[in-house]
Amino acid sequence: MSDLHKAIEAIQIREATDPENEDAIRWNNDMFENVRRLGEGAGGAVYQVKQKNTGKMMAMKTIPANPETPPRQLRRELEFLSTCIHPNITEFYGAYLSSGNAAAAEVVLLMEFCEGGSLETVSKKLREQKRRIGEQVVAKLAMGTLQGLDYLHGKKIIHRDIKPSNILLTKDGVVKLCDFGVSGVLVNSMAGTFTGTSWYMSPERIRGDPYTIRSDVWSTGLTILELARNKFPYPPDLGPIELLSVIVNGDIPELEDEAEGSDGQPGAVWTQSMKDFVNRCLIIDGTRRPSPREILQDPWVVHNGNVDIDMEKWMRHLYGWPKPPRKGVRRPKPSDGGSSSTPGGSMDSSSQPLSATSAYSATTEMGYDAPRIITEPSSRCAVTPSLLHAAC
Ligand SMILES: Nc1ncnc2c1ncn2[C@@H]1O[C@H](COP(=O)(O)OP(=O)(O)O)[C@@H](O)[C@H]1O
Ligand SMILES: [Mg+2]
Repeated sequence: MSDLHKAIEAIQIREATDPENEDAIRWNNDMFENVRRLGEGAGGAVYQVKQKNTGKMMAMKTIPANPETPPRQLRRELEFLSTCIHPNITEFYGAYLSSGNAAAAEVVLLMEFCEGGSLETVSKKLREQKRRIGEQVVAKLAMGTLQGLDYLHGKKIIHRDIKPSNILLTKDGVVKLCDFGVSGVLVNSMAGTFTGTSWYMSPERIRGDPYTIRSDVWSTGLTILELARNKFPYPPDLGPIELLSVIVNGDIPELEDEAEGSDGQPGAVWTQSMKDFVNRCLIIDGTRRPSPREILQDPWVVHNGNVDIDMEKWMRHLYGWPKPPRKGVRRPKPSDGGSSSTPGGSMDSSSQPLSATSAYSATTEMGYDAPRIITEPSSRCAVTPSLLHAAC
C-alpha cells in the first residue's frame, strides 16, 4: 500500500457532530450525488452534493493533495476544522482523500451548504436588479463577519482570506465564514494555484510584514465598502502591480454618498457613523487598526447590528424565492404549475440560470425583474506570489 493510500485511510475523519462515535460515517465518493456546480475558485470547483442515504445537502470542495504533506499533519489540521463550531462559521462535516489515481489524488472537504450564496453573489444580484443594499443589512452582515472572526481569533486562527466569496449566507441571511487557513498545510496545498485573492489583503500583508488578527479587519472593511458601493473600491483601470502599490501607499478608499449613476444604479446616502466604521477598519497602520472584538464595540455596529430586521425576507426578495407556505397550507407540487424557484436555486446565476418558469414566478410574485444570466468574466486579474513579490 502506498503512503498516499495509507493517507486515504488516515485522513478520513469522523463526522464532526459525533467525534466520539466509532461507528460514525467514513466518507467516500459513492455516498454523494452531484447536484450542481456552485462556482470555481483557485484550487478547483465547489459542488453542491446530496448525501444519498439522508438527502442532506452539502458543499464539496476538492483541493489537490500535496504528496509532500505528512498525512498525520494533514489529519490534525482537518480534525481541528471540525472543532470550529460557531453560528457564524461554516460547519465542517469531514474530509477524505478521493481514491483512484494516487498521483492525482485530491483532498475532498465536506461542509455546510449555504443556500444564500456569498456576498459576491449578493452584489451581483443587486447590480442586476439595480438596487442598493440598506445600511442596516450591511451592519448585520458586518456584525456576523466580525463575530465569526472574533471566534476564530479566540482559537488563535487568523482567517487570512476574508473576501466577498468567502462570506457565505444561509437562506435566512446568517453569515457563515469559510476557507480560513488553520495552519500551513491546507493553505500550502493551494499556494501553487494562488490567484486573485490579494486585493483584499491588508497593506502590511502585501508588504510582507508580520500580520495579525487586525489584518482580517482590513479585509472586512474593504468587503463591506465594496458591498455598499456595489463595486470594488479601487480604480478599475489599474494593473495588478499598480493596484497593490496603491493599496500599500495610496489613497485609502472611503465610503461616500453617491448620486444616481448614468447606468441606472441608484444613488446612496450613508450615515456619518457608517463612514467612520469603514475608516476605522481601513486604518493603514495595522498596529493602530482595531481587532474584531474592538470594532464590534463600534457605535455603528452596536446600534444597527442589533436592530431587528427580517433577513430571511430580505434574502427571499433578493433571490426571488417564494414565501414559505404557512403552517397547514399544502406546498404546491411542481406539477401544479407553481413556482419552481427554491432557496439555492438561483444563487449562482453564472453556473445555474433560473428556468424560464421560475424566473417568471419570481417576477410576478416579488414584483421585480427576473434575474439575468451573468456571463462577464471576473474583472480582477490573477496575481501570483511572484507578482506580489515584484510589487513589494
Ligand atoms: N459551503 C458553501 N456553500 C455555498 N457556496 C459555496 C460554499 N463554499 C464555496 N461556495 C462558493 O463556491 C465558489 C467557489 O469557491 P472557492 O473555491 O472557495 O473560490 P473563491 O472563494 O476564491 O471564489 C464561490 O462562489 C463560493 O462562494
Ligand atoms: Mg472561497
